[in-house]
Amino acid sequence: MTPPSAAAEARRHFAERFDAQPVGTWSAPGRANLIGEHTDYNDGFVLPFAIQHRTHVALGTRDDGVIRVASTFADDAVEVPLADLDAVFPDRREEIAEWARYPLGVAWALVPAAGPAARGLDLAFASNVPVGAGLSSSAAIEGAAASAIADTWGLDLDRVALARAGRRAENEAVGAPTGIMDQMASMLGRADAAIFLDCRSLEAQVVDLGFRAAGLELVVIDTGVSHSHATGGYGERRAACERGAAILAVPALRDVSVDDLARAETLMDDVTFRRVRHVVTENQRVRDTVRILAEQGPRAIGDLLLASHASMRDDFEISVPELDTAVDAAREAGALGARMTGGGFGGAAIALVPHDGVQRVTDAVTAAFEASGFAVPTIFTVTPSDGAARDA
Ligand code: GLA
Repeated sequence: MTPPSAAAEARRHFAERFDAQPVGTWSAPGRANLIGEHTDYNDGFVLPFAIQHRTHVALGTRDDGVIRVASTFADDAVEVPLADLDAVFPDRREEIAEWARYPLGVAWALVPAAGPAARGLDLAFASNVPVGAGLSSSAAIEGAAASAIADTWGLDLDRVALARAGRRAENEAVGAPTGIMDQMASMLGRADAAIFLDCRSLEAQVVDLGFRAAGLELVVIDTGVSHSHATGGYGERRAACERGAAILAVPALRDVSVDDLARAETLMDDVTFRRVRHVVTENQRVRDTVRILAEQGPRAIGDLLLASHASMRDDFEISVPELDTAVDAAREAGALGARMTGGGFGGAAIALVPHDGVQRVTDAVTAAFEASGFAVPTIFTVTPSDGAARDA
């Protein structure tokens, strides 16, 4: 499925809201994570890719030092003097409409690098990234905002620095204690490839996926179960990982290997141990996936995807019945592998499916949801795509 471009919509919305023409448009994609879940904030490894769904922003400049943001998703524009952002974030964030904290948080994170070059801006967003599906609509809005603002203010920042600004917005302006995977995927994505990221050094390697040549499709099953990482489970899992690392006296769970697990089990309670075991085995699965992709190609990674899902279901306990049903039904209908993707507690699963099996998997998952009394899922294919860019 090729989503309709939101670029024209962003321009139209800009003209309507601000009664002016933008000076340019930028965009950034959502992402799916092939494998490596809840490893990023443990300094570990991830293998995400950018998808074809993008958030577009049209930008204009202003002379009064005010930043205004508008979105086709919101009734009202939000406006704040740039000089006030420091007073608003993080302590008074509640005063800002939640969606606006993402782009305004990015501006706030970039102001120090800009100094006097930080001039007023109007930004209008439009997006075709599904919201709440675990496909990182938040990183898409952050990536679009960061690219547009950095270009306009003439900032000499590379893509990693822009990803960091997005993460700072998410952590401090929105209040979600996430890692940096999503922002890096949205900034660095490449067509037909995934990004193998070391979340400690932030070294990124482009890894060919070769799905098309192998006759494979990546199917997303959006369960419609919504989640928020600013509340509850995500932060608890993160705290359990930090507890495990402290007990093992390492800076992060990245420093624990599969061979260390037997000893770890004797040192901590069962729940903490299972959280640790997920992260440690998941880091190994990411490295194994990169190796197997290179040695045997994408048809051979299915079991790693399934093992990743089982680990999140049983050890990390972040799956929900809808995600388990999606994975099981996809597998039974011929998917080579499947797993939930993103932070968990809802959102989407991905399934790696031979081209001619997509309809069968779609029908089987839909029927399984119906039989379980779940809401009808939204099912579509995604294509590994390029990262953030100026479009016009
Ligand atoms: C969310 C976060 C990421 C990452 C994933 C889980 O998407 O934003 O930083 O932690 O969950 O892998």
